[in-house]
Amino acid sequence: MEKHKVVVTRKIPEQALEKLKEHSEVYIWNYEEKPMPYELLTEQLKDASGLYTNVGDQIDKALLDQAPYLKVISTMAVGFDNIDVKEAARRGIAVGHTPGVLTETTADLTFALLMAAARRVVESSDYVREGHWKSWGPMLMTGQDIYGATIGIIGMGRIGEGVARRAAGFNMNILYHNRSRRFELEKELKASYCSMEELITTADFVVLLAPGSAQTRHMIGEKQFKQMKPNAVFINTSRGTNVDEKALYEALKTKEIWAAGLDVFEEEPIAESHPLLKLPNVTVLPHIGSASVATRTKMALIAAENLIAGLENQELLFKVNSK
Ligand code: DGY
Repeated sequence: MEKHKVVVTRKIPEQALEKLKEHSEVYIWNYEEKPMPYELLTEQLKDASGLYTNVGDQIDKALLDQAPYLKVISTMAVGFDNIDVKEAARRGIAVGHTPGVLTETTADLTFALLMAAARRVVESSDYVREGHWKSWGPMLMTGQDIYGATIGIIGMGRIGEGVARRAAGFNMNILYHNRSRRFELEKELKASYCSMEELITTADFVVLLAPGSAQTRHMIGEKQFKQMKPNAVFINTSRGTNVDEKALYEALKTKEIWAAGLDVFEEEPIAESHPLLKLPNVTVLPHIGSASVATRTKMALIAAENLIAGLENQELLFKVNSK
């Protein structure tokens, strides 16, 4: 029997690649950091049945128009804002993703970023390395307390819950805003549901975990930053497009807010010359929320299983909802 052709857009963990090879003819763009050029992807998809994709690939209508045999798109991520899911559904192409396995790893990173931004960890480290440290100082690198502070979590899904559990361990007062109430969690963690406005105006830490979509684009902008407390630390480990970066820059520069910790950006990778990178009160990471060896391996394997199921006309393990 002839094997299906599958296109893999990035170097992925070996176990996942082996799995794919057992079931299909694999074309792989075998680079870790260089994304597969859109034109080459278009070309390779002309006779492919499966697409194993990654954050950063643009899977749009124009691309799908050139992929007449495509049956399944499987992304090695929980987020799928880079995929035109409606267009895929219209063509009967299944779309899979990898929720669940990355929850705790991403919550860990979110909390690490929160702590790093609050206590100026990276800025302090650079200060030492660059030879600026001359003596102990009473006011040197003073930051914001985490223990006992108020955290406001926007988006109380799995990862939001993971962050809330960590916050409870730090005796934080937990506020959240979400599409639906999480009554059990409210009881268990003494978390309080509140409006966006209340959360933004009262939280010491504003943590954004809403999924990226057309509806959430720039949901945090000038108005919201102006409403935040001057000691507020803003954390984003969701999608960069959820935040108006120009407004964030102004808020940080004029000290309307105290600091930010960012794992995601409107454009990724963020340009080296981006004004945000010039500010000392910004801690930046290269979109590594789920990047532990174990979690990335699990994600890669789930993505492979989703893909294989789609090729064999079976239900995907984790299918994206096309609505
Ligand atoms: C995701 O899964 O959506 C992350 O952003 C990448 O791990």
